[in-house]
Amino acid sequence: MDAADFYTGIVAEIYGPLKSFSPDPEPYAAFIERAGGPALELGCGDGDPLLELRRRGLDVEGVDSSADMLERLARRARAQGITVTAHHRRMEALELPRRYRAIFLAGPTFALLPDDGAALACLRGVRAHLAEGGTALVPLFVPSPTPAEQIGRVRTAVGPDGAELRVSVVAEERDESARTQTALLRYERRQGADHTVVERPWVLHWHSRSGFKALAEAAGLAVGAGTVAGTVLRGAG
Ligand SMILES: C[S@@+](CC[C@H](N)C(=O)[O-])C[C@H]1O[C@@H](n2cnc3c(N)ncnc32)[C@H](O)[C@@H]1O
Repeated sequence: MDAADFYTGIVAEIYGPLKSFSPDPEPYAAFIERAGGPALELGCGDGDPLLELRRRGLDVEGVDSSADMLERLARRARAQGITVTAHHRRMEALELPRRYRAIFLAGPTFALLPDDGAALACLRGVRAHLAEGGTALVPLFVPSPTPAEQIGRVRTAVGPDGAELRVSVVAEERDESARTQTALLRYERRQGADHTVVERPWVLHWHSRSGFKALAEAAGLAVGAGTVAGTVLRGAG
């Protein structure tokens, strides 16, 4: 399946109840306050940290390739009384009418672009959507292999409708030369006699600092300082 469609259907449904990590909003709030608005989060998913940034009154929009995740975002926003604008787009095919002073990804989301071609296309889109003098922030992430004893271990949760939800890593392959780690994930949903099982490959693709710099420069971006939150990029020339 296409990597940009991984977070759809049963994966989006199970994502909230089985979420193991939410990015801390502080570094992104500080970044937007420094760079100025409007801001854009790529791969905003169901709204962490986007909703908290909106709650603080920051002018920030989101982009995500999964309509199911955007529906979850809209539901959470409504429940919290927050207004949010989010665009259903792939981050490697950005085409939005607005230009932004700040564009960022949160946590390990850039690693979801499955190869260098997609990463370069995304960075070109970032360059095209930065306002004059704007800044982008891209956290880089190198995944660790899943420890052998965790392969096959099942995590469970209960969905809002009482369904039993389960996820496990069935197998994993790591290719150091392609810089990819592909985990085969099994998602299960059981409610009464209904039992759904879906297996999907989850691809993470990482970058060395020098490799990322070369891609960013090819996209017309200048690589600035690395901060706690990620690598800072500006329009070059
Ligand atoms: C791990 S989730 C993180 C979402 C959110 N920041 C959070 O922490 O809850 C990653 C999100 O990136 C989105 N995504 C993955 N590939 C994408 C792509 N090529 N373009 C746009 N969004 C993408 C997924 O649909 C998913 O919602």
